[in-house]
Amino acid sequence: MGNGIAHVFAQNGFAVNLIDVNAAQLEKAIATITKNLYRQVAKGTITEQEKNQALINITTVTDIAGGVKNAALVVEAATENIELKLKIFKQVDEAAPEGCILASNTSSISITKIASVTKRPELVIGMHFMNPVPVMKLVEIINGYATGKEVTQTIVQLSKQLGKVPCVVNDYPGFIANKILMPMINEAIFSLYEGIAGVEEIDTIMKLGMAHPMGPLQLADFIGLDVCLSILNVLHNGFGNTKYAPCALLVNMVTAGKFGVKSGEGFYTYAAGNKELVVSKAFSK
Ligand SMILES: NC(=O)c1ccc[n+]([C@@H]2O[C@H](COP(=O)([O-])OP(=O)(O)OC[C@H]3O[C@@H](n4cnc5c(N)ncnc54)[C@H](O)[C@@H]3O)[C@@H](O)[C@H]2O)c1
Repeated sequence: MGNGIAHVFAQNGFAVNLIDVNAAQLEKAIATITKNLYRQVAKGTITEQEKNQALINITTVTDIAGGVKNAALVVEAATENIELKLKIFKQVDEAAPEGCILASNTSSISITKIASVTKRPELVIGMHFMNPVPVMKLVEIINGYATGKEVTQTIVQLSKQLGKVPCVVNDYPGFIANKILMPMINEAIFSLYEGIAGVEEIDTIMKLGMAHPMGPLQLADFIGLDVCLSILNVLHNGFGNTKYAPCALLVNMVTAGKFGVKSGEGFYTYAAGNKELVVSKAFSK
């Protein structure tokens, strides 16, 4: 997600410090951004010169403090782990200049909780981009309990400047996107678990019947089954409502290391170079 966010800021004329603790990830990120910019040039959506300028706008950095010391905005997109995010926000709060807005791209962690470890909770906000960032139009903006109104307005304006459509919501578990999406995915997994229908039938019904571009099981594989499970746990614990309890099949698959696209198998199997959707042997008839 970090490379996609850096890409859209750089393409829209912002100077970006792309920070990662892992230098190899930075190299990979620049390769991905370059490939995606070339694709945009080939499609005619940007010029060769705009592509070159976008790449010049990005500097890679491995030291967090150095990377944020002159920033007007920090958008954190590190691994979805609460302890890690709280540690990063403490560090960034120490090093970033006064008045710098601190945003998180978290899918499910409380913005209010993140803000509480900083000395500037009024300047902390959620800026939830969708995957793939250069393509998806939505930015879900999340107001923490203490987020200042001017800060929200700044982030709304900025999102528009990036060519995105911002939607402002309040900070409750799953915000809006995942509070609505994850129960649908969970229900699709329950339907498979209960033997009501097979993988292809569930996905085809939702694709053709509801005009969804992807069925819920394929989408779950794409998001990562481990990520889906962790978001459902956030909803379940946060609201204390059993309607969000993850299906035992999802728990089993994650325990078995079947995470979807990233592990090569989930509800479907994914082999390098094969674009055809093949239902995993575990669910084939
Ligand atoms: N993947 C998605 O579809 C998606 C969609 C929307 C939001 N998000 C959110 O975006 C964030 C990132 O997701 P991702 O899928 O890109 O995760 P990822 O785990 O693929 O990438 C996270 C990156 O953070 C780096 N990192 C780890 N610790 C760090 C530290 N201390 N300082 C700096 N960098 C550090 C890792 O090296 C890695 O490159 C998460 O909060 C996730 O919930 C993900």
